[in-house]
Amino acid sequence: MQRPFNFSAGPASIPEAVLREAAADMLDWHGSGMGVMEMSHRGKEFMQIAAEAEGDLRELLAVPANFRILFLQGGGLGENAIVPMNLSRGGAVDFVQTGSWSKKSIAEARRYADVAIAASNAAAPGTIPDPATWSLRPRASYVHVCSNETIDGVEFHALPDLKALGSDTPLVIDCSSHILSRAIDWSRVGLAFAGAQKNIGPAGLTIVIVRDDLIGHALPITPSAFDYKVVAGHGSMFNTPPTWAIYVAGLTFKWIKAQGGVAAMDARAAEKSALLYAALDASPFYASRVAPAARSRMNVPFFLRDESLNDAFLAGARERGLLALKGHKSVGGMRASIYNAVPVEGVQALVTWLNEFAARHG
Ligand SMILES: Cc1ncc(COP(=O)(O)O)c(C=O)c1O
Repeated sequence: MQRPFNFSAGPASIPEAVLREAAADMLDWHGSGMGVMEMSHRGKEFMQIAAEAEGDLRELLAVPANFRILFLQGGGLGENAIVPMNLSRGGAVDFVQTGSWSKKSIAEARRYADVAIAASNAAAPGTIPDPATWSLRPRASYVHVCSNETIDGVEFHALPDLKALGSDTPLVIDCSSHILSRAIDWSRVGLAFAGAQKNIGPAGLTIVIVRDDLIGHALPITPSAFDYKVVAGHGSMFNTPPTWAIYVAGLTFKWIKAQGGVAAMDARAAEKSALLYAALDASPFYASRVAPAARSRMNVPFFLRDESLNDAFLAGARERGLLALKGHKSVGGMRASIYNAVPVEGVQALVTWLNEFAARHG
């Protein structure tokens, strides 16, 4: 059976090989007599699963030894509070606003810290303000950017080099929707966080990768289960971790390694996104509203010029096994999320449908 292609923004497509392996292990993991969901997180079986997942993620992203990898819960929105609780010391933090998710992060951080917007694309949506123009406060504890705006389809193709701008402030990135699709330059980053439910696996797991020296300064109001020092001190097992999600994430990490690692994911993302944007740009029937230099390789929002045809487009797509293409409700139109698990064949099938639909209605 050929599964449909799933363009959901998250929770999203998971590699079929990963789903099949998880299904095969469901009742009995490696002869242990237990499914992973039934195991103690402190038992040797699960400890091995978690240690391998962490080790594989460290290898895939070339995470340096002075960074801790934490497995948490609470999602990206949880981190919008947990990061300022841990890093702000109640003082100044700077944000760059490039779309819906950075806006949400700003609103949440205001509850814990003195927030300033160092730069914003509000006057030019679909672009990324040039880092040379950002107003960075030397006393800020960190600078937050959303490195891939899932709703707006805006991506940083290179992380800003704050040191080159004369700033020592650590950069915090919300990389929820493009983690593992490209390498991360850790010399530019103090903390990276990501919900797992896009490029990694099931919802319920949040990954935080944080430089050692940024740990240990949590505000007194920080819940212990979200204090990075406490979580790191317990090897992400202070409270019961999301065991199933960690296990499936581990399978995905092994799948990525077998595919050729992050470099292979990067090349695939380049190929798939180029194919899709080329089809959109070639037809007057469709429009992308994101500046070419800032176009996301993971989330591709687009519009039919005649929006009265939206329902017909989506219905035809569904008939062809192309699922979840409806745009986010705040934006409208369409969105194709082409995460690591969406194969190039899925994008080719979408392009075929784009062309067929335009020929029929154009
Ligand atoms: C970039 C980004 N940040 C944060 C979130 C929020 O994640 P969660 O729903 O896990 O809290 C999302 C979810 O789509 C996202 O795309």
